[in-house]
Amino acid sequence: MKKKWGFLTICLLLTTMMLAACGQNNNNSGAGASTNTGSGNASTAPAESAGNTTGDSSGGKLILGTSADYPPFEFHIKGSDGNDQIVGIDIDIANEIAKDMGKELEIKDMQFSSLLNELSSGRVDLVISGLSPKPERAKQVDLSNIYYQAEQSIVVPESSQDKYATMESLEGKTIGVQTGSIQEDIGKGIKGAKLTSLAKISDIIMQLKSGRVDAAIIETPVAESYLKKVEGLAITSAKPTTEEDGYVIGVKKGNGDLMTKVNATLDRLKQAGKIDQFVTDANEIADQQSN
Ligand code: ARG
Repeated sequence: MKKKWGFLTICLLLTTMMLAACGQNNNNSGAGASTNTGSGNASTAPAESAGNTTGDSSGGKLILGTSADYPPFEFHIKGSDGNDQIVGIDIDIANEIAKDMGKELEIKDMQFSSLLNELSSGRVDLVISGLSPKPERAKQVDLSNIYYQAEQSIVVPESSQDKYATMESLEGKTIGVQTGSIQEDIGKGIKGAKLTSLAKISDIIMQLKSGRVDAAIIETPVAESYLKKVEGLAITSAKPTTEEDGYVIGVKKGNGDLMTKVNATLDRLKQAGKIDQFVTDANEIADQQSN
């Protein structure tokens, strides 16, 4: 009986996550985007306001593109006023950048795979979304200094934790990854693996729960955050490797002025130990959200 309720709770939780994601898509202004200001009030900004606003030293909006399925970096919570709000380490950093620039932060939640196109077309000013610095991305947009170092994990149903203890054991298996992520690249490198590429990490978690994928490749801090809430899944001792573990901030190509400001804020935060503080705070908030 207890078990059954646990399972039902997970189903409910995942359904709520899905509904929340659908709800956002209804407000779309292209590319699966929904908008949300730092204060949690949803609003739709005219596309032209992005990019044009960032040259000034103060005033106007700074528009952040992110994929808010990624606790503790960016995720949805119910704020104290009952409204949906996007919070996390990356949002804290974005708020600091906006503050240093004298601008108001506006958040656009969109699919991870569309973030860099939105950035290069000027619909968002910057992308902070646990973004790893791969060379092809550096050709499309400019990338900041690294602000966080993540690692990769293999997540499986608890019952197959020992079965998938090495990367070789994943050969020929069905593996869930986020569309457009470096985890998708890692998956492509596993011999014979069949990849299930999905828009949201929450979708991948559901596929794992229902046994439709054998394993998933997820960044460790994010995997750990999900596993605190979802029962029956585990991280194995298999260690996916990539040279692109660091997180960086993306800015439209050639926007050197904004890049200088972004790196200056990152330096300030790193020196003051603020990023570590944001990590602690965001993990605490994410944990409080669990049932
Ligand atoms: N670090 C990985 C990448 O850059 C995945 C990031 C996914 N981010 C997200 N907010 N869902 O490809």
